[in-house]
Amino acid sequence: MLPAVRKNPTAVFLDAANRYGEVSYFKIGPRHGFLVTNPADIRHVLQDNARNYRKSPLYDKLRVLLGNGLLTSEGDFWLRQRRIAQPAFHRQRIAGLAEVMAVAAREAAGRWEAIAAAGQPVDVDEEMMRLTRTVVLRTLLGADLGPFADTVDDAWKILNEHIGDSFWSLGLTDWWPSARKRRFEAARAVLRGAVDHVIAERRRHPSGRADLLSMLMTARDEDTGETMTDEQLRVEVTTFLLAGQETTSLALTWIWYLLSQHPAARQQFENEIDSVLGGRPPDYGDLANLPYARMVIDEAMRLYPPAWGFSREAVGDDQLGGYHLPRGFLVFVIPFVLHRLPAYWSNPGTFDPERFAPERSADRPKFVYLPFGAGPRQCIGNQFALIEAQLVLATLAQQYRLTLVPGHRVDPWPLITLRPRFGMVMTIEKRAAVRHG
Ligand code: HEM
Repeated sequence: MLPAVRKNPTAVFLDAANRYGEVSYFKIGPRHGFLVTNPADIRHVLQDNARNYRKSPLYDKLRVLLGNGLLTSEGDFWLRQRRIAQPAFHRQRIAGLAEVMAVAAREAAGRWEAIAAAGQPVDVDEEMMRLTRTVVLRTLLGADLGPFADTVDDAWKILNEHIGDSFWSLGLTDWWPSARKRRFEAARAVLRGAVDHVIAERRRHPSGRADLLSMLMTARDEDTGETMTDEQLRVEVTTFLLAGQETTSLALTWIWYLLSQHPAARQQFENEIDSVLGGRPPDYGDLANLPYARMVIDEAMRLYPPAWGFSREAVGDDQLGGYHLPRGFLVFVIPFVLHRLPAYWSNPGTFDPERFAPERSADRPKFVYLPFGAGPRQCIGNQFALIEAQLVLATLAQQYRLTLVPGHRVDPWPLITLRPRFGMVMTIEKRAAVRHG
């Protein structure tokens, strides 16, 4: 199945689930694997018997780029890192970063003034990438990037593109043309230099800052009292930069797209924002009063999960879905497929935020909705992402309405993340003009 999976993995997995039911066997290149869709089987792999599974070799590429950090490491080492980092990601701590997120969203709103006035279409994918990059750099490292401020942003863009491009190249990255490889390595050196600089400065002048780096530097394993070394701090900071920017950006881009295609939902979304905020900019305290915005986010991540699929490798033999799973086999967990199973989602292709209303969610098994994964390896940044997404949406939708440029082709492109292959070209209108016009 390698050529088919490389070409269009989401379609291949969806087709297999529809045709063969809850367990399908795949041979992809030299590897064997099961696609499983029953929530009990997924729970078994990600949670109940998680000890028998490691992240699959598809992560090896990330390991080369990121080093041994939270996303890529295994076993006791991973557990120690996770326990040290966890307190920095508690909802209350992240709430303390909400103002940085809100300020970045307001800056974007300011930038859009001129774009809206000019009536010029923009690629909203790029706009959201810039915004979430700003948020992750500021919340992690603080605004103070010293002499590196200008170069880090560019370097980050290069690294991120590279990682996305190389995912299914299966080892071919060694054969990159050297100019491209040099560009990549230069970018990595810039980022490394910047992060090292910031860590060293913080060690010299410990500050009362509330950014994530300060939290990570002081965080301790609750049992052993251990803190992170500088080397490990650098690896983790780089991991958070990577894991936190693109996923959140893509969630936002797909949301703008879906809202533009569903005027009734958009109206409801705008009405909620207008009535709750009454024209003042949103802050963290408003988020609980914007439930429809949250349902829109959940529903958009159902149809277009930024992390559309992930996989595990069985360390030892197991039983899965009534079949023998030999050690070394992969297990594919594909949110893009799970989120469309007719057994759990009525009219799965329809955008319907209300399906996430509490009364309609009560009977749904947890393991059929996995935008952030599940079990011990669940996304550590899920609260971060949800708070950021809600603040960004409320700030921008309060002032602007986005419309897909007619004829622009929208094609979900499953690399590591689910990107819009041709970007998302939209026009931005000032809402006052829309209302009065
Ligand atoms: C909408 C945005 C996001 C989505 C959809 C998302 C999705 C995911 C998923 C599915 C996993 C689990 C992968 C697996 O089990 O193989 C994961 C892990 C992870 N995510 Fe996120 N993520 C998002 C935002 C963030 C943010 C904002 C951060 C950090 C600032 C972050 C940091 C991480 C880290 C460090 C891990 C690895 C955790 C571990 O293995 O202990 N993510 N993410």
